[in-house]
Amino acid sequence: MAVVLGIESSCDETAVAVVDSDRRIIAQRIASQDAAHAPYGGVVPEIAARAHAEKLAPMIEGVLAESGIALPDFDAIAATAGPGLIGGVMVGLVSAKALAMASDVPLLAVNHLEGHALSPRLADAGIAFPYLLLLVSGGHCQILRVEGVGRYRRLATTIDDALGEAFDKTAKILGLGYPGGPAVERLAREGNAAAVPLPRPLAGSKEPHFSFAGLKSAVMRAHESGEHAVADIAASFQQAAMDCVVDRLEYSLARTDPVATLVVAGGVAANQAIRTALERLAERHDMRFSAPPLALCTDNAAMIAWAGLERLAAEGDAFRSDPLDLAARPRWPL
Ligand code: KG4
Ligand code: ZN
Repeated sequence: MAVVLGIESSCDETAVAVVDSDRRIIAQRIASQDAAHAPYGGVVPEIAARAHAEKLAPMIEGVLAESGIALPDFDAIAATAGPGLIGGVMVGLVSAKALAMASDVPLLAVNHLEGHALSPRLADAGIAFPYLLLLVSGGHCQILRVEGVGRYRRLATTIDDALGEAFDKTAKILGLGYPGGPAVERLAREGNAAAVPLPRPLAGSKEPHFSFAGLKSAVMRAHESGEHAVADIAASFQQAAMDCVVDRLEYSLARTDPVATLVVAGGVAANQAIRTALERLAERHDMRFSAPPLALCTDNAAMIAWAGLERLAAEGDAFRSDPLDLAARPRWPL
């Protein structure tokens, strides 16, 4: 049995968790900064870094006390080392290094995307490698073939906005507030998804890419024209975004060996319409569909601790610890 302390601070959630190799989340805390960023309609890096610095130390203390496990008894301390907003990443990584050094416990520098990629296996012991992962949040939009720990093949990624970002920008255009995803989804239920003609950027493209910038501009034009009800724009936007996702998944499936499971992670996984579209797609391809509970889909530290546990359990010494002089990485493709 192994137990790992996880720290996440790459965007606008400060999070700390203790997880063991039996998939038990022994203790965790998460502090969202939504309220601090809401007036700006998006995450402000300086505000985020300051909030992480203020909150992290007492949160680590609290989680350690709640877990009842002494620092030297941990098998590793895992922290997000990138990709993300560099100020925030540094706060978490430096804290993890200090704890690792003081207690003589190995440090594991986790790629945030790897945390998302492996999180389904924390929620569901039945998910075996390889599986196809749609990772869609405010900061990420990619399709990965997860083949094993440390073995990820990127099949598609965005060339401009992430899907959650497209929802947030649409919400801003329509005056719905931040974060926009849930508000757009709510309003979309009252609208007609066929009412507003909107583009499906890159649908059918032979390149491994998503693009949402053109869709956002089209939403803006539709709104400014004054010809459409706001609910119709929201519904038509959501439909167009969903069509793009399904198209890119079909594209990816056509270019990779069969996999048994389709998994969705990231904050946009909360969207019921998108979940339903993914379930149907999985059915068409004879795949199982799995979505981790939402608390594991959005940014959290349990997934970072779990990625650490997966690394400890994997073959090879390279997985077991990272050097204490390792630098935070604002960009770090999987
Ligand atoms: O994973 P997450 O909490 O943070 C990161 O961005 O890493 O994802 C937040 C994103 C936001 O862009 C938010 O608008 C979007 O997920 N989101 C949704 C829904 N709930 C959250 N997008 C569409 N529909 C939703 N119901
Ligand atoms: Zn994330």
